[in-house]
Amino acid sequence: MFDYSVIDRIDTSGEAPLEEPMRQYYFMKKCKEWMEETKDRVGRELTLSMQTMGCQMNARDSEKFEAILTYIGYKTVDSTSADFVLYNTCTVRENANLKVYGRLGQLKNQKKRNPEMKIAMCGCMMQEPTVVEKIKKSYPYVDIIFGTHNVYKLAEILYTQIISERTIIDIWDEAKGIVEDLPSLRKHSFKAAVNIMYGCNNYCTYCIVPYVRGRERSRKPEEIIAEIKSLVADGVIEIMLLGQNVNSYGKTLDNPMSFAELLKLVTEIEGLKRIRFMTSHPKDLSDELIEVMASSDKICTQLHLPLQAGSTRILKKMNRVYTKESYLDLVDRIKSKLPNISLSTDIIVGFPGETDEDFEETMDVLRRVRYENVYSFIYSKRTGTPAATMDNQVPEDVIKERFDRMLELIRSISSEIADSRVGMECDILIEEPNDHDSTMVTGRMSGNAVVHCVGSKDLIGKIVRVKLLESKGFYYIGEIIND
Ligand code: SAH
Ligand code: SF4
Ligand code: F3S
Repeated sequence: MFDYSVIDRIDTSGEAPLEEPMRQYYFMKKCKEWMEETKDRVGRELTLSMQTMGCQMNARDSEKFEAILTYIGYKTVDSTSADFVLYNTCTVRENANLKVYGRLGQLKNQKKRNPEMKIAMCGCMMQEPTVVEKIKKSYPYVDIIFGTHNVYKLAEILYTQIISERTIIDIWDEAKGIVEDLPSLRKHSFKAAVNIMYGCNNYCTYCIVPYVRGRERSRKPEEIIAEIKSLVADGVIEIMLLGQNVNSYGKTLDNPMSFAELLKLVTEIEGLKRIRFMTSHPKDLSDELIEVMASSDKICTQLHLPLQAGSTRILKKMNRVYTKESYLDLVDRIKSKLPNISLSTDIIVGFPGETDEDFEETMDVLRRVRYENVYSFIYSKRTGTPAATMDNQVPEDVIKERFDRMLELIRSISSEIADSRVGMECDILIEEPNDHDSTMVTGRMSGNAVVHCVGSKDLIGKIVRVKLLESKGFYYIGEIIND
């Protein structure tokens, strides 16, 4: 548990300290003092609405933002209108950007009506200069804009905005080291995500992430292990290790270490029951990692292994650095050592130059590998990436036809896999009450599939044994059994 008394004890009468994280603690307390005065002035509590888009990296950053803003005194509400509205944005595909502009437009009138309202924008979209220009021009009522490399500075940026009453824009081109020991607020008490690295060096030709998240940086193993130990002491039994390409973990450390070595250290943490990780780039997945996964019951039988495309020709143009054959060979090696593995993947349909033959190669891999889950995306042109200027962009109607055909195949394979599991017994971690039926709870299998079963809310956070009674395509109905 983060010890907030460290912040409360800070003397805010003098200058801000220069070293981190003390500097941020100082500004958190300064903002809290401002909040006390504001609450007295307006005669009510101030509310917070956080909108998090994109991947688990953003979700993890948002846990930090929420902790900082909650410490300051904002109360989170389940609504898009609040006194502090924070958009943590994603820019991996264009429709994500369009959604953000739409919402920003809607906030204009709310802001006119509420003089206490502040609008903050952060996340990957803000790392694109054209986006920041557009916000400055078309949405000048935004109060705070910051990027992905200075997320830890939220309190300092907010305090600067409070004092100056101007729009504060603070975007860095690259990260300047990793700031540890910030508070964070988790959604679940029993499971948590832990960053093991930031950024990406792979430059897949369609992808904007390396430009908006910067170069690959690994956290030190001692910091990661210490964070997980303290989470476990706090009641966490499942952790998700996060990185854009966890398989290249450790290369940039002073004392290089492989992901498999890190994973082994994590399995040795007493009290930790389940370990997941994502994402694995197929080009870097080692036999050593497969061995470690096979050697520990704590490592979940789940592996997300993005394929992107089945055609070797397209993979080359994507700069994925593996071929159809080497990918299939890797899957064979994984399945032979880990027979219960649940594989999932990402596919892009309509990469520039994708022909019907290329697309059939993707369908062929889907049929051969039989993924439990496929996240499929229509190719989206991202300005600044090499693919955006490639010839032969595929027409929309062609992409749509391929996409629909692929969805049908994915659905039929996933449901065949699910049906074949009915009758099996497995362990699930109960995560939440069931949304629709108060006599039921919802949990996840080691392979990550969702199971609903009759059970009391007291079971939340516990691992129970269930028998799978029925498959519903994307989830199962199970029955808790006492063994
Ligand atoms: N680091 C992860 C993926 C991060 S982005 C990996 O390498 O697997 C998540 C997914 O978004 C990618 O796997 C890809 O399938 C998809 N994606 C990225 N850029 C895209 C684009 N320009 N158009 C469509 N989908 C894209
Ligand atoms: Fe993007 Fe490729 Fe990096 Fe994944 S590995 S984040 S797809 S550049
Ligand atoms: Fe989106 Fe940024 Fe993640 S672009 S997918 S939120 S790293």
